[in-house]
Amino acid sequence: MPPEGKRILSGMQPTGRLHLGNLVGALENWVELQNSGYENFHMVADWHSLTIDYKSSDNLEDASFQVVTDWLAAGIDPEKSVIFTQSQIKEHAELNLLFSMLITVPRLERNPTLKDRVRDADIDENLSFGHLGYPVLQAADILIYRANLVPVGEDQLPHIEITREIARKFNSTYGELFPIPEGKLTKFGRLPGLDNKKMSKTLGNTILMSDDSETLAIKIKGMITDPEKIYRNSLGHPDICPVFAYHNKFNESEVPEIRAGCESGALGCADCKQNLTSKLNDYLDPIREKRAELESKPDSVRDIINEGNIKAKKEVSETMSLVYEAMKFGKPSIS
Ligand code: TRP
Repeated sequence: MPPEGKRILSGMQPTGRLHLGNLVGALENWVELQNSGYENFHMVADWHSLTIDYKSSDNLEDASFQVVTDWLAAGIDPEKSVIFTQSQIKEHAELNLLFSMLITVPRLERNPTLKDRVRDADIDENLSFGHLGYPVLQAADILIYRANLVPVGEDQLPHIEITREIARKFNSTYGELFPIPEGKLTKFGRLPGLDNKKMSKTLGNTILMSDDSETLAIKIKGMITDPEKIYRNSLGHPDICPVFAYHNKFNESEVPEIRAGCESGALGCADCKQNLTSKLNDYLDPIREKRAELESKPDSVRDIINEGNIKAKKEVSETMSLVYEAMKFGKPSIS
């Protein structure tokens, strides 16, 4: 059954040019879901990037531009998806405030994503109020569009759970207004970084969607492989090798052959990497081409964002009137 009138909302922080982890973990899913019959909204979460590092604001505008350019290059189609910027739609902050009453501090402190971030960034004692409230703002982002489905990476599921709790709390207190949204993961889980850790900009282990073929070849040459496969004919363990994980994603048809060759010692890492480089080039070439075209007319990207902001604004005004009505604030006296 087509999900008539149902909505998707998702977002990413403006981290600048996106990497393959972003592509495989979320963006590909967004592109595919554009043809699912849902209405699509995709947001650059620029306020969210400040919750983690308030100093990171130098570069927000360009980083947002780069992110949207990569979305478009990967196939997000502005005819099918509303692309907008969180900071332009101030109502998100208004709903964030109202939602902040509907959840307790201990509940937010139990958020496992927060625990991971605090550990990674070593900010134990210096957790900001905004950072603690990260999932509340995310709940506002999602529910202000009354979205039903939220395609995200695995690390975001705890935030979707908090969104559901806030929606239920609002509905049971002030009246049914919000759908209870669901998270949707990609089929292919997580792509490791060059060093086999989680791919992340801060760890410096990424392959960018926009890397050219020379950069790609150098990065793949330097990738970690099975540490026991010292010689070309050593017996390898593909399941612990990040290069093999990439073959799984980008070269599915040759996977049985590569597994057998690696395990028996017939296939060496250098050849295996060269093969991957060529498959990845095939995969990335159309994306690179589209990106180059968009870069040659940056105003067209800005226009797409502006139009998206206008559409988003219209949607949130409607939701906020319903919220004000449900909460009995009375009609706005100035407009
Ligand atoms: N927290 C998300 C991330 O870091 C970004 C985000 C902000 C988001 N608001 C959202 C994702 C709403 C989905 C829905 O990736």
